[in-house]
Amino acid sequence: MFWRGVISAGGSARKYADVYTTTKRYYRRGGAIKACKEMPQIGLAVVGAGYWGPNLVRTALATPALRLKWLCDLDLERARAVLGLQTTVQATSSYDTVLDDRGVAAVAIATPAATHFELVSAALAAGKHVLVEKPLTASTGEADKLIARAQELGLVLMCDHTYCYTPAVRRVRKIVRGGGIGDIQFVDSVRINLGLIQPDVDVLWDLAPHDLSILDFVLPDHVAPIAIAAHTADPIGAGRACLGYLSVWMSNGALAHLHVNWLSPTKIRTTVFGGSKQTIVWDDLNPAARLALHDRGVDSVPTESLAPEERRQALISYRIGDTLVPALPEREALLSVMAEFADAIASGRQALTDGISGRRILALLEAASRSAESGGTRISLESATAAAAMI
Ligand SMILES: NC(=O)c1ccc[n+]([C@@H]2O[C@H](COP(=O)([O-])OP(=O)(O)OC[C@H]3O[C@@H](n4cnc5c(N)ncnc54)[C@H](O)[C@@H]3O)[C@@H](O)[C@H]2O)c1
Repeated sequence: MFWRGVISAGGSARKYADVYTTTKRYYRRGGAIKACKEMPQIGLAVVGAGYWGPNLVRTALATPALRLKWLCDLDLERARAVLGLQTTVQATSSYDTVLDDRGVAAVAIATPAATHFELVSAALAAGKHVLVEKPLTASTGEADKLIARAQELGLVLMCDHTYCYTPAVRRVRKIVRGGGIGDIQFVDSVRINLGLIQPDVDVLWDLAPHDLSILDFVLPDHVAPIAIAAHTADPIGAGRACLGYLSVWMSNGALAHLHVNWLSPTKIRTTVFGGSKQTIVWDDLNPAARLALHDRGVDSVPTESLAPEERRQALISYRIGDTLVPALPEREALLSVMAEFADAIASGRQALTDGISGRRILALLEAASRSAESGGTRISLESATAAAAMI
């Protein structure tokens, strides 16, 4: 049964055809099968059945607010293989078929970055809400057009910055933005592994969106990146950078350093968020203690009243305190991505990681690429940030 939805977006009510379908669900109680209350569902299509698309398929199927109708891939056999035989989801190689389906209100796109602009533009033009994989597009210019179009049409444009939806990063955001670690002073991130050499993007555009989006997500509103420098290398002659080091200077004097690498035989995913009161260590590969809050740091001592000799000795003092390991729920981040996408559509609001946040990450990536091309020059971000603020 189709249900015609009216969603308020940006102050104006916008009517969508067939946003929801309702599906009867059943549960078992004491041996009897009972029907749940009918739940409205948003018709969804996933586009791209390569490495990442199947994860969108699996998590969409596990999201009660969504009803996956299509899996679309240029390679029809691949789409069919992902779905298997026992499925009600249809496979197609025709994107037009998906966009023509009035029962599809939203699409989730997991195709290579170079195709995002074209596929997202077509989806918005067909009146569909869009969840698109990182990076949002291949350039800030393309992102500006998509953001403006989505706003004009009152449609949700969300970027899958998956890590922002992990329980660990959500907790880090709460602590950092709540002032728990004091003033942020440094961020040190390592994301290295033996990675697939991507055919279309270098390691900066493949892996750094994760760390840059985490940084963007956790920083307090009054702290913003002001400059970036990147050094990259291609020691195996792959034709694109396979490892990179990024430095990101912040408006409050803090410095972040990010290391991304496809060539490391050992896998490390650790980020340290250093503050004036506490330091958080996030080790994503340690489920027993993904986060540790260290009540340790360096205090600078007011020295105005001291004699010069005393001043030299008393400049800093080290604080050694306890370490706390917070209990975190184990919830797959992509399930939260899907729930956020569905809720943003249902309530007519911007998603937590919307097009504008995706655009901020692109501005950093573009500046990082420019820096790397020029051998690591420090690039000011003021112009990029100002452009983002104008949207
Ligand atoms: N969020 C994450 O953690 C995460 C992880 C991996 C990849 N990704 C992102 O997912 C996207 C896809 O990456 P991947 O590794 O799955 O790529 P992939 O090359 O493995 O798969 C891409 C698929 O898209 C299909 N495709 C290409 N153009 C199409 C079109 N016009 N219409 C329909 N299908 C089309 C291809 O046939 C292929 O099957 C990228 O943007 C990547 O950055 C995100």
